[in-house]
Amino acid sequence: MAALFQPFTLKDVTVRNRIGVPPMCQYSAVDGRVNDWHRVHLAALARGGAGLVVVEATAVSPEGRITPGCTGIWNDDLAQDFVPLVHAIKAGGAVPGIQIAHAGRKASANRPWEGDDHIPDSDPRGWQTLAPSALPFGAHLPKVPQAMTPEDIARVRGDFAAAARRALEAGFEWLELHFAHGYLAQSFFSVHANQRTDAYGGSFDNRCRFLLETLAAVREVWPERLPLTVRFGVVEFDGRDEETLAESIELARRFKAGGLDLLSVSGAFSSPRSKVPWGQPAFLAPFAGRVRREADIPVSSAWNLGDPAVAEQVLHDGLMDQVLVGKGHLANPHWTYQAARALGIERPAWVLPPPYAHWLSAVR
Ligand SMILES: Cc1cc2nc3c(=O)[nH]c(=O)nc-3n(C[C@H](O)[C@H](O)[C@H](O)COP(=O)(O)O)c2cc1C
Repeated sequence: MAALFQPFTLKDVTVRNRIGVPPMCQYSAVDGRVNDWHRVHLAALARGGAGLVVVEATAVSPEGRITPGCTGIWNDDLAQDFVPLVHAIKAGGAVPGIQIAHAGRKASANRPWEGDDHIPDSDPRGWQTLAPSALPFGAHLPKVPQAMTPEDIARVRGDFAAAARRALEAGFEWLELHFAHGYLAQSFFSVHANQRTDAYGGSFDNRCRFLLETLAAVREVWPERLPLTVRFGVVEFDGRDEETLAESIELARRFKAGGLDLLSVSGAFSSPRSKVPWGQPAFLAPFAGRVRREADIPVSSAWNLGDPAVAEQVLHDGLMDQVLVGKGHLANPHWTYQAARALGIERPAWVLPPPYAHWLSAVR
């Protein structure tokens, strides 16, 4: 049996296969509120056969949204609107997950198809961004963030914990903290973004502090029986990758000691000068493998794993426990079924729920 189709048990949750849909912003919410678009989008992905479907980066506070179209879970009313989404994902047979997030200095941006750049200060749609230091990301995101005070740090940490509690109440069974991609938590870790001289900047211990404290705050409200995961960028592609990776592996060990169940290995994307090999197949898989082996923690990873043979290979090689396929699922929500066919599985339709599988098993 192909490795892709082995079930995956983490804590009390069993995912039907090793295929996950990573969080993908739809930029389609209004005032943080999810709507019918999110429901049809997520339901299709779950119905298509993936084992895990993670809802997009959902802001823990209004200023934590990437764009005005991003989803939010900063109050109980917004959280309740996720309940039908959770039901839709479960009806498709997938485990419902959510990524909770704060975009830091990359917040207050236009939607990708409307420029992807910072909303100008003169535009009332924008807002003041927050970050460890008053340093802009640069390039298309020039807005100067406000350096966070210790009170701001405590508030955002509390926002993550409150968001986690709401996610649990909405029925999510898998929680991911967005500590990647140059957003707030990643920028505390990043030497490119963090120039603080207090307990949250400078040394490795200090640059990890916000992330570890936030994980601890969430651990207190998220139950032990359900997977608690973090998405984190382990390399920056800035020429000092071995050093960043070594630090990331040590941080992963500390996450594990703090109760983390899985690390979703991604890129740091904290500097516009990074040279990310965007087009290269499976370019993060070797890094995921190092984290998995050296920190001894289950990992998932994404980035150009959409060729079923490649996805199967990275599992077979022990580089990760779960494969995340993003854009491949936007192009084809039935990616899992197509992968089963491509890998020559005799009855590929068995990966789908019975109302589809019964008919498709005859269609090779
Ligand atoms: C439309 C879109 C939205 C995304 N939104 C998020 C997000 O909310 N959170 C996140 O961690 N990554 C996000 N990503 C990154 C994806 O989760 C994934 O890592 C990336 O697409 C690479 O995987 P792929 O090569 O299979 O597409 C997004 C990607 C796309 C294409």
